[in-house]
Amino acid sequence: MLAILVCGLAGCAGVGSLPSLEEAVGQDASADTDGAEGAGSDVLGTGPQAPPVVGAELRLWLESGEYSGWVAESATHQSTGPHFGFVRTFVNNVLLQSLRVGGPEHPEGAAAVKELYGSTEGDVVGYSVMVKIQSESAGGDGWYWYELYDGSTFADSAGNSTCTGCHASGADFFRSPIPFQ
Ligand code: HEC
Repeated sequence: MLAILVCGLAGCAGVGSLPSLEEAVGQDASADTDGAEGAGSDVLGTGPQAPPVVGAELRLWLESGEYSGWVAESATHQSTGPHFGFVRTFVNNVLLQSLRVGGPEHPEGAAAVKELYGSTEGDVVGYSVMVKIQSESAGGDGWYWYELYDGSTFADSAGNSTCTGCHASGADFFRSPIPFQ
């Protein structure tokens, strides 16, 4: 935690252009050095905050860009996980506010959408999504998991074991580094 915070304050690679997600979640640390992530920030996203948790409906919701007003990483970057090359993560306000306070379990309604670009940064070719469907995480069963890439669906269920094993090491299954890159 401290290393990440110091890294953020000192300016690591890519910090030159401040991502909006950093501003919203972490980079207010200059005014708030006690380690509470972005507790001083009041930046929130806009637009619909509750993605459908049925694959066919979610796909339409994603493809019409309903999440585009959410707080997001400022730019695409290479996934450090298995997420198909370049990615960009968006979080809704429920998750954003939970990440700010660093609670042990994100509340019901917390959601993240990750745009998947593949090997080039041109067009979005898929999405990875996680939505908290109950307050208890229950080993990942408390999250609905969805992934669509290049027309194929790789996950569309609560507690999907393709996703939960690796995500279990995150902050209540959330894996992106905080402050965000
Ligand atoms: C082998 C590890 C691994 C597996 C399996 C995995 N992920 Fe991830 N995921 C990551 C990592 C690492 C990140 C952090 C950002 C990055 O570098 O991609 C991430 C980020 C995400 C994010 C953005 C929010 C966050 O947690 O940071 C979503 C949404 C997501 N993954 C969904 C899924 C879904 C859905 C599946 C199953 C189909 C899945 N992931 C499988 C490692 C994994």
